[in-house]
Amino acid sequence: MHKQAELILNWKKSKGTISPMLYGHFAEHIGGVFYDGIWVGEDSPVENIHGFRKAFIESFRKLHPPVLRWPGGCFAETYDWRDGIGPREKRPRRAGWWYYEDRRVETNQVGTHEFMELCRLVGAKPYIAANMTTTTPLSIRNWMEYCNLPAGETTLSDERAANGSPEPFGVEYWGIGNENWGGGGHMTPEKCVQEYLRYSTVCRSLGLPEQKYILCGANGHDYAWTRRVMQECRAQLGTEAPAWGLGTHYYCQTAGTPQNFTGEQWYQQLFQADRMREIIQNHRAAMEEFDPDCRMGLVIDEWGCWHQEGTGPSKGRNLFEQQSTMRDAMVAALTLNLFNNSCDVVWMANVAQLCNNLHSLYLAGGEHLAETPNYHVFHMFQTHMGARQIHAEVNCETLQEDGFRPLETLSASVSETAERITLTLANLDRENPQCVRLLDADGQCTGSGTMTILQHEDLHACNSFEAPRTVVPVQRPITLAKGGSVEVPPAGIVSIVLKKS
Ligand code: AHR
Repeated sequence: MHKQAELILNWKKSKGTISPMLYGHFAEHIGGVFYDGIWVGEDSPVENIHGFRKAFIESFRKLHPPVLRWPGGCFAETYDWRDGIGPREKRPRRAGWWYYEDRRVETNQVGTHEFMELCRLVGAKPYIAANMTTTTPLSIRNWMEYCNLPAGETTLSDERAANGSPEPFGVEYWGIGNENWGGGGHMTPEKCVQEYLRYSTVCRSLGLPEQKYILCGANGHDYAWTRRVMQECRAQLGTEAPAWGLGTHYYCQTAGTPQNFTGEQWYQQLFQADRMREIIQNHRAAMEEFDPDCRMGLVIDEWGCWHQEGTGPSKGRNLFEQQSTMRDAMVAALTLNLFNNSCDVVWMANVAQLCNNLHSLYLAGGEHLAETPNYHVFHMFQTHMGARQIHAEVNCETLQEDGFRPLETLSASVSETAERITLTLANLDRENPQCVRLLDADGQCTGSGTMTILQHEDLHACNSFEAPRTVVPVQRPITLAKGGSVEVPPAGIVSIVLKKS
């Protein structure tokens, strides 16, 4: 049965520019993300560019990734950056953070220079998540000096040049700490702020004004943590902003398994994903009292679905590896629409994780590379990056579930640049198509362009090494007249890009 929905557009109302940084990524040294995922090594029979899987680089480039967070996650908490520089054959083998889970030894073949090369190859800005748990402020300051000072200036910057990179890396984004409420030292919010200030004060003494620091924030919906962090910052610094951004991580826990879920579990997963709306609002509200001018942004530097592992192609060898279906793609679409519509308060977001792990965009191993349905969502949404967000109110059927806000069955966001208008619509209803009427008093959402549709009649379908193109988008031309409608198939995601005349 066709459902009717409306999208009411107001071109005069906008939350501002959709920062490309909302479309950021995260690659941790965990399981198969790097080794035999993204990185195969220069001597590998697998085609590679400076050790990175060539097919992956070529595909990832197409997303114009704005920023890549590295090397953890929890991995950061026992990472010594000096292990990852110098001749690769001489680098130490370590029992990194995740050794307790899978007994995989960290070979440090990917270190700072390789990570910078990866960023250069795909055009992303590096975001280094630094260890605040088991190292010293001086060690992190040294890492910054190594990365960012010009060659000839200090012994550390000369060491970088001697290791093959005479030009400074210019790393702007530095996370100080990761999940300090948990694996990152089980700190209280007050202790976390004090430690952060100890580290960041020492690092700031390098005098690099363009550095953007990210203070570790709350676990999901722990709004009390944010409030106490802000209170402690006020107590320590008065009105001075402590950081560029305040991080938070939110994963929606699995309902069913990645590929085996009921109709009810389809919606349970989406209710959880929609909680991101409340997470953004409530963390911002907790910050508001202490930061009314929004000098500090929210950085959601880990997000995605956390399903049962062992369902990816490595059959459990790669820690946390999971398959992705249209349900995960729907979570991605819903989340990216929420970020677009909160671009005034969310300044960066990083989907976890890039390859062979949670909510991944890629599955890779041996000769193989498959783009997951999540990849296609990022591809379809990319024209929002850097565009002006347009206020778009949704009128549609909602669903109820105890403990959650009503879930709108249509998720949408709209943006414009001088050249184009982008609309992204996701129909959460798994059974019924929705006919979305565009109520646009100004008649601006008209003209011709392209419509891309991601959908599969089997919601459990996925892209595997054997069948990597099972769930792929299709494209067709579209012309919209004033007051026109768009049909979105059940469990379908649509992006429309109209050329401005
Ligand atoms: O993404 C996997 C892990 O999830 C990260 O290492 C950690 O930060 C989070 O708990």
